[in-house]
Formats: sequence, structure tokens, C-alpha cells
Amino acid sequence: MQEQLLDWYHREARDLPWRRTRDPYKIWVSEVILQQTQVVTGTAYYERFVERFPTVQALAEATLEDVLQAWEGCGYYARARNLHAAAKQITGQPFPETYEGWLALKGVGPYTAAAVSSIAFGYPKAVVDGNVRRVLSRWFAVKEPSDHWLQTTADEQLFHADPSSWNQAVMELGATICTPKAPKCPVCPVKDFCKAYQSGNPTAYPAPKVR
Ligand code: ADE
Repeated sequence: MQEQLLDWYHREARDLPWRRTRDPYKIWVSEVILQQTQVVTGTAYYERFVERFPTVQALAEATLEDVLQAWEGCGYYARARNLHAAAKQITGQPFPETYEGWLALKGVGPYTAAAVSSIAFGYPKAVVDGNVRRVLSRWFAVKEPSDHWLQTTADEQLFHADPSSWNQAVMELGATICTPKAPKCPVCPVKDFCKAYQSGNPTAYPAPKVR
């Protein structure tokens, strides 16, 4: 499974701006934006934001007003406030290189901590977002995955030789092939490993959340 998915990712992955950098600051900004914005829209906001604030120092020294203005259109302004506060918290220090180090920053939750530590530093922590949840739920045919099961399973499957590519590959699969409706199973690089595909009814996984 790991080899097939990574081969596909390296062959087919979209050329996104934050994939061309190893700068933890830029990867951090991109992941915060992508939590609430689709990749296509998010790309434009990302470019605008890092042009305005190219470094964590620049962001830390900016006024909140300027930061909120640069964030305009992204919504969820608490994210921008937190990003600004965390930038002030760490500016002048080296970036944390571990999941735990990122998690200790203001407003940085498990998703962002896993994404930035793995993508920027190769730290072995699996990301879990909506796309990853759907991929894992189908891969193992689990209809109602608990948060604990998701993080444990994601960490167990993580490809330790390249956590950055692995995490991005799982998210990419969920965004482009293993979609909620009408998943493109015939062209999925890992369908042979997928229990939901074998069941003949992949969209039954995960079950809709009952409210
Ligand atoms: N969604 C959020 N972050 C992503 C990333 N780095 N690659 C693909 N999809 C994502």
C-alpha cells in the first residue's frame, strides 16, 4: 500500500506552492489556510499572505489590524489572530521540530502540529483531517471511526522513511480520488488494498454522522 500510494503521489501530485518550499513558516501558513479553504482558493490567499508577511518576524512585527486585513476572504478570523499570537510567541527562537513542540504554540491544534512537523521536519506524526478520515475509513471498512482509532491507525500506517510525502499523499488521495461522492475507484492506485472497494459499496464508508 505505502509504495503504491507514494509512487502515485510522486507521479501525479498537484504542483502546489507550499510543496516547493521547506520553510516551516510558509508551510505553517499554508496549513492554517487549508484547514478552512479548498486548495484552489487557498493557493491565492497563501500567495498573498506570504508576500505581505514573508517571514515569521515580519508577521510578529505586523499589527493585528494588518494581519486581519491580509486574511480577508479566508474567514475564521480566530485562525489569523492565533497565527499572529504564535508568531509573536516564537519569533527570534528556532522553530519547533517536533509534534509536541508545535502543539505547545498558541492556537496550534493536533492537525497543524502534525502537518507542519512532518512536512517541514520529517517528524513521524500522522495528520488526521476530513480527507484522511475518509481514506482510512474506506481502507479498513470502518463505518464509524472514533477519533482515537483514526489517530492510532494513521500513526500505525505512517511511512516513516518520508512522513512529509506520506501525509500529503493520503490527503491528496482523499481530495482527488477518494472523494465523498462518486470516488474514482477505477483509477485509484491503492484500490487493491481497500476493504470498502472490495465490499462493492465504498461510499457506505464512513457512515454519515448522526446529529
Ligand atoms: N490539505 C491540507 N494540507 C494539504 C497538503 N499539504 N497537501 C494536500 N492537501 C492538503
